[in-house]
Amino acid sequence: MSLLVEKLNVHYGKSHVIFDLDLSMADSEVLTLLGRNGAGKTTSLLGILGLVPGTSGTVSIAGSDVSALPTYRRSQAGLAYVPSGARCFPNLTVLENLDIAAQRRSSSNGAAPARWNKERVFELFPALAELKANLAGGLSGGERQMLAVGRALMSNPKVILMDEPTEGLAPVIVQSIGRLVQQLKQTGVGILLAEQNHQMALKVADRAAFMEKGRIVEEMPATQAVNSEVLHRILGV
Ligand SMILES: Nc1ncnc2c1ncn2[C@@H]1O[C@H](COP(=O)(O)OP(=O)(O)OP(=O)(O)O)[C@@H](O)[C@H]1O
Ligand SMILES: [Mg+2]
Repeated sequence: MSLLVEKLNVHYGKSHVIFDLDLSMADSEVLTLLGRNGAGKTTSLLGILGLVPGTSGTVSIAGSDVSALPTYRRSQAGLAYVPSGARCFPNLTVLENLDIAAQRRSSSNGAAPARWNKERVFELFPALAELKANLAGGLSGGERQMLAVGRALMSNPKVILMDEPTEGLAPVIVQSIGRLVQQLKQTGVGILLAEQNHQMALKVADRAAFMEKGRIVEEMPATQAVNSEVLHRILGV
């Protein structure tokens, strides 16, 4: 099991937003979290990352319980995050962005031997290698997603949480994000993919979990979710 979440509850102040969320992901599994605006996808990811104070429930990464640990320790345990918009350092080059991510890793104690380095990231994304010396702020949306994923990989994660990687991108780029997720899966990493783009997500995912009002209301294999009643009901498509 790469990620196990049990009874996660997240509050923003007095407002209860995520209710008893349960998730489990096998190694190198892609699980997509689908739901409309405000369903609670981002908040679920933030809760798993330990970024919202007062979150309760259990989070385990590759068998170890990290529920009591701060975010940076969860990251050392194998959890990585690609936020929506794939934020990178805009005034640094592609290479410098990757270097910073690598430095963060090497400063951690007892980390596993590095499986990922810049060379491997560039092998995975040859298009990014050609942009090494470019400023991240000048990259296209799709290129920035590659860089953000490359940065996440530098921490040698077991699971990557990706928040709406296709948001605001043109259809042709959405296709390339789909390929990127498939390439990532082949490297053995598990991916929790929050999306509203169900077409792309269901193509690359193994399983789908549907969220409504802060709860997972249905979960099923991705092949079954395509054209399902729940897809029509929850996403209105
Ligand atoms: N910082 C915050 N403080 C209070 N409420 C918040 C905060 N952030 C989000 N919410 C509320 O929590 C609920 C879930 O929001 P969340 O951002 O997790 O949804 P989402 O599924 O990611 O939506 P989207 O597809 O628009 O990104 C919404 O009702 C939202 O208004
Ligand atoms: Mg969101």
